[in-house]
Amino acid sequence: MSELKRKDILGLEEMSADEMELILDTAQSMREIIDRPIKQVPTLRGKGILSLFYESSTRTKISFDLAARYLSAGSVGVAKAGSSLDKGESLRDTVRNVEVMGPELVVMRHPSGGAPHYLAKNVDSSVINAGDGYHEHPTQGLLDMLSVRQKTGTLEGLKVAIIGDIFHSRVARSDIWGFGRMGSEVVVSAPTTLLPPNIEETGCRVEPRVEDALKDADVVCVLRLQLERQKQSFFPSVREYHALYGIDARRLALAKPGAILMHPGPMNRGVEITSDIADGPQSIILEQVPNGVAVRMALLYLLLGGGE
Ligand code: NCD
Repeated sequence: MSELKRKDILGLEEMSADEMELILDTAQSMREIIDRPIKQVPTLRGKGILSLFYESSTRTKISFDLAARYLSAGSVGVAKAGSSLDKGESLRDTVRNVEVMGPELVVMRHPSGGAPHYLAKNVDSSVINAGDGYHEHPTQGLLDMLSVRQKTGTLEGLKVAIIGDIFHSRVARSDIWGFGRMGSEVVVSAPTTLLPPNIEETGCRVEPRVEDALKDADVVCVLRLQLERQKQSFFPSVREYHALYGIDARRLALAKPGAILMHPGPMNRGVEITSDIADGPQSIILEQVPNGVAVRMALLYLLLGGGE
């Protein structure tokens, strides 16, 4: 496969292994541009990118902006504060305005699952989902896969353990679809209240005891406890959560020797992950970040026909 034959990137559920392979290979070549002293190439000169971030973001927003800049595309955008969402504008009206502005590509993060899909259906521009509610975060899934592949060479046959707040995590869903489709065995563990019903239908296995999930894992992906999304109490206390599901050196030692430790950020240090391992030799948490720029460059390039 040498071309991505789709207009939008909305989720990994609907993406084939061949498409993911193409994106990861392209992202790997983009890494070489990022590592150069002069990072800009003229590939997407003249293309317009609009970014609409209706939820807070640090890494994702910055990496899309950098990706556009490194490929010489023009990029403008709004973040939640300062957008008309605060003034009650409907998604439908936002869509109509985007339509008449006519950017080649729109990046959207939104608190409601399905918002980028609605946008994609109604505008000619390509749309990339930068995280929609609890649903998917496909670019994070892809950068997680790229980060692991750089270490292991393949994703096939790896045991990937995803630990933490699966219920509120769009990253978990994209990782489950992505790693699963690439031939990894995905195991999830969380308190029952933080596990969505029927999560097995996405192709993962549930291990109620975190120790069983970690046993012999090649990759340990720790998720943030999304306290801001919890309108009710999903567990008795943060202390108890840490005692039962927090990943520390003792628990990490249950995984394979030298297992890879990941976290999408932002981290709650001392809650879902302890600082000694987050900053330790098995952690690739800071390598995930430039890979995020590389994946977003690859997607801009593949969707906007950079080859022309
Ligand atoms: C994640 C997100 O926003 O879904 N962060 C990110 O994009 N790196 C995960 C999180 O907020 O915990």
